[in-house]
Amino acid sequence: MAPILDDHSLEFISRGPEQTRRLGARLGQLLQGGEVICLEGPLGAGKTVLAQGIGRGWGTVSMLTSPSFVLVREHRRPASDKRLLHADFYRLGSSAEVWELGLGDWMGDPDAVVLIEWPERALPILPQQRLWVRLEPSSASRRRVLFTAQGEAHLALLQSFRRAAFGV
Ligand SMILES: Nc1ncnc2c1ncn2[C@@H]1O[C@H](COP(=O)(O)OP(=O)(O)O)[C@@H](O)[C@H]1O
Ligand SMILES: [Mg+2]
Repeated sequence: MAPILDDHSLEFISRGPEQTRRLGARLGQLLQGGEVICLEGPLGAGKTVLAQGIGRGWGTVSMLTSPSFVLVREHRRPASDKRLLHADFYRLGSSAEVWELGLGDWMGDPDAVVLIEWPERALPILPQQRLWVRLEPSSASRRRVLFTAQGEAHLALLQSFRRAAFGV
C-alpha cells in the first residue's frame, strides 16, 4: 500500500480482501458518529468487503452482509445508542426513496455512521459533507482504493486515518 495525493485525498492499493477489510477496520475505529461514507465502484469491487471492515473497526456485534434486498440494514454495538447504517442503493428507485427508507434523517446525525454502496444513485440528496471512497479493480485481487474527504469533519477524519495507516 502506498499513500499519494493531496491533503483531502488518500490512495491505497489493496492486494486481497483481508487487506481491504483491515483498511476498513482502521477507518472504522476512528468514526465518532455523523460521518457519511460513500462506497463507489463496479459490482465486485469490494464495497461490501470494505464496509465489513469498517463495521469491525467500529465495533458491530453483527457481521455486515450485502443489504441489497432490504436496501438498508442497521447495526449496533454493545451498551451504546449509536448505530451504523449500511445502505445499498443499487435497487433504489428514486432519490426520494432514501427518505421512505428512513435514512434521510440519519445522514449527518451525530448518533449514526452511514455507509452507502452505489451512492451515485442518489447523488442529489447526499450531504456535501462526506467521505467518498472509490474502489477500482485492476486485477482479480488488486484494488485501487481512493478516499476523498469533503467538509471539515471528514477532512479531519482523513488526516487521522492517514496517521493511523502510515504514521504521517
Ligand atoms: N483486494 C480486494 N479487496 C476487496 N475484495 C476483493 C479483493 N480481491 C478480491 N476481492 C473479492 O472481490 C469480491 C468483492 O465483493 P463485494 O465486496 O461484495 O463487492 P461489491 O460490494 O463492491 O459489489 C469478493 O468476492 C472479494 O473476495
Ligand atoms: Mg456490495
